[in-house]
Amino acid sequence: MIETRRKINSAQHYFAPEDIDYITAQVPEILRTRLTQGQRVKAFEAAARAAIGSRYAVAANTCTSALEMTMRALGIGPGDEVIVPPQTFIATAFAVVHSGATPIFADIRKETHCLDPEDVARRITPNTKAVILVHMAGLITPDLPALQDLCRRHSLALIEDAAHAHGASKGGKMAGTLGTAGCFSYYATKVIAAGEGGIISTDDDALHETLRSYQWRGQDLSVKDEEVFIYAGRNVRMTEFSALCGIVQYQRLEEFVARRNRVAEIYTARLREALPEVVPVAVPEDTRHSYWKYIVNLPERVSRRELQRHMKARYDLPINWSYYPPVHLMPVFRTLYGFTEGHLPVAEQVLQHNVNLPMHAALSDDDAEYVMDTFIEGYKALLGT
Ligand SMILES: Cc1ncc(COP(=O)(O)O)c(C=O)c1O
Repeated sequence: MIETRRKINSAQHYFAPEDIDYITAQVPEILRTRLTQGQRVKAFEAAARAAIGSRYAVAANTCTSALEMTMRALGIGPGDEVIVPPQTFIATAFAVVHSGATPIFADIRKETHCLDPEDVARRITPNTKAVILVHMAGLITPDLPALQDLCRRHSLALIEDAAHAHGASKGGKMAGTLGTAGCFSYYATKVIAAGEGGIISTDDDALHETLRSYQWRGQDLSVKDEEVFIYAGRNVRMTEFSALCGIVQYQRLEEFVARRNRVAEIYTARLREALPEVVPVAVPEDTRHSYWKYIVNLPERVSRRELQRHMKARYDLPINWSYYPPVHLMPVFRTLYGFTEGHLPVAEQVLQHNVNLPMHAALSDDDAEYVMDTFIEGYKALLGT
């Protein structure tokens, strides 16, 4: 029986004391000089470029903006279709809607929670312009080669929604370098956190040039003495404060991803031994997961709501799930496009039966063992396994 309760958060950011001191020392200079889109934003872009290994990195205030800028810069608009998964944050699909194009939802695979290439192939039409692949929770799907091949054969842009995938890789290639462009989030609970922030990575010269203009609301950057606008952009500026946090967090990226992987390793080993019916998302040998979340699929007989209540009441252990209802069944998309149950059978089934276990870079090995002690004990007590 677990005797002592430990406070475990499901997610949190982490700044080491010396990082807090460094950030604090930099603030007066920001206040005396430039508050937004200055030298620190440039340095943040350089840090992102170095970590991702892309030729370019363009900063924005959020990943939402990064996705929307990418849609616009690729010329995606009314009459176009963009394939998106239903297992994602609403922002992925909204980026398509706000471009004027239509989001076409394709199903996911239970084992990966990422797009199923076979269903993507079925949904391609002459109007399809792009596929947005979400590296769900930080997993680069083993189906990536099939998706890349589909996009090549149909001349579609492959946009990585890498909001969760800082430091993730497959076959030595980093998230953000696997398609036409990659969009990253630096929101407070992401793998690295700047409060708010976004980056678009790309190797494409022309796309980069257009994105630079959108970074300045669509300004013609070749005109020096006037503010002349060539595209209908928005305010997507990143502040120097966020950039400063982002620079400092990038120095910890490797450490953070390694820690998250270590916690995952403990969870996976303990579950395999004690609760094999609780199945983590599978990670192939050639893949480094960034573990924004640690997702497990539960047997259908388990009520995750009941499990959540039990873990909270008995141990104060937070268990939750990301993204429910599946995005296509959100009221907004039911209203806009008339989606009903049955449209994407795998996602609709799988997303009722998954949970996330606590995951962040401040969890020690001992915390991870404690999470497993409580989860396994609580699960067995509730379900009698
Ligand atoms: C998959 C995914 N895409 C996009 C976003 C949007 O990111 P942001 O909050 O930085 O706008 C999020 C944020 O949670 C996300 O999880």
